[in-house]
Amino acid sequence: MSKMKRNIIVSIMVIAMVIGRSSASSLVTFIFGDSLTEVGNNNYLQLSLAKSNFPHYGIDFDGGKATGRFTNGRTIGDIISAKLRIPSPPPYLSLSPTDDAILKGVNYASGGAGILNETGLYFIERLSFDDQIKNFEKTKESIKAKIGDEAANKLCNEAVYFIGIGSNDYVNNFLQPFLADGQQYAHDEFVELMISTLGEQLARLYEVGARKMVFHGLGPLGCIPSQRAKSRRGQCLTQVNLWVQQFNSKVQKLIENLNAHLPSSHLTFADTYQAVLDLIDNPTKYGFKVSNTSCCVVDTKLGGLCLPNSKLCSNRSDYVFWDAFHPSDAANAVLAERFFSTVFSQSPSPAPLPSH
Ligand SMILES: *[C@@H]1O[C@H](CO)[C@@H](O)[C@H](O)[C@H]1NC(C)=O
Ligand SMILES: *[C@@H]1O[C@H](CO)[C@@H](O)[C@H](O)[C@H]1NC(C)=O
Ligand SMILES: *[C@@H]1O[C@H](CO)[C@@H](O)[C@H](O)[C@H]1NC(C)=O
Repeated sequence: MSKMKRNIIVSIMVIAMVIGRSSASSLVTFIFGDSLTEVGNNNYLQLSLAKSNFPHYGIDFDGGKATGRFTNGRTIGDIISAKLRIPSPPPYLSLSPTDDAILKGVNYASGGAGILNETGLYFIERLSFDDQIKNFEKTKESIKAKIGDEAANKLCNEAVYFIGIGSNDYVNNFLQPFLADGQQYAHDEFVELMISTLGEQLARLYEVGARKMVFHGLGPLGCIPSQRAKSRRGQCLTQVNLWVQQFNSKVQKLIENLNAHLPSSHLTFADTYQAVLDLIDNPTKYGFKVSNTSCCVVDTKLGGLCLPNSKLCSNRSDYVFWDAFHPSDAANAVLAERFFSTVFSQSPSPAPLPSH
């Protein structure tokens, strides 16, 4: 077995253990991230240009309408929630502080968001990871007001935190030639800035009570349609993929470090890079026909989202990508399914966490 494959399986087993402790029906999840996990926060930001609340988004979702998800159907988070038999947590901005729903999990993710505040600047409004953490702090106060300090601390300690962020720091920051960060920093400096910022952010979540955190590594961003369009013959951008892998391996080290220094913390790094790359390299192996361009015919020079007047492919399940950035519902289903079947074939009744 390759080292990479072993790493993936090890991370997945650790996730199984992290999740295994809470009984599934009472599992509370808090979700942080960008457009890959957003379920509608940006619809509440009047000036935000990072929105997907128009056709053809949501065409394959329940009801067939756009919800603010950046895909034709479900996000990976929606599918994982269904498999855990819990509702997919609602967008933070759809809830009032007195809603009982905050006790069952909240989704803070926002399209265009990054680790760095300045990422996605041209979307005018989006909730950066710092903003999302600030909102989680507010949720914690509301939970305390509802159930008292001790129960609130327990709830937050036992919840699972899914965090998937960093793609926009590349796609909508470092890789944009006209933005300051790409000009100001060499990649080595940029990745250090991201890692040190992320370290402070994860420590801040820990301070508020997060213990079980799962950080989703970045996928091969050099192979998404918006990046391929910059190459001469539609191929993956090797340099971008190397940068992303450098980021991933530094996050993995950061997480080992945090686990060693923050008592009772259980952070895990979920490395999905190889799984996504395999889906892109061998689409037919997974029942897809096309992985080098999106189902929705988009103009990558005009943002790359699927606009109401865009043409769609004839069969949306044949395409790995829905628009220039985001996987299709069918691809999300494959990725979530693979993730889960590995969890349960490895470990049908996940071992409890060691207590310490
Ligand atoms: C980013 O913004 C947050 C507020 O949203 C602020 O607390 C933080 O200091 C800012 N970070 C930097 C590096 O400017
Ligand atoms: C995608 O790959 C196919 C063949 O594998 C090729 O014919 C087509 O031109 C490629 N499309 C793009 C946009 O690169
Ligand atoms: C669409 O593609 C999927 C996967 O290739 C296939 O199972 C399905 O039958 C196709 N649907 C239609 C209407 O052709």
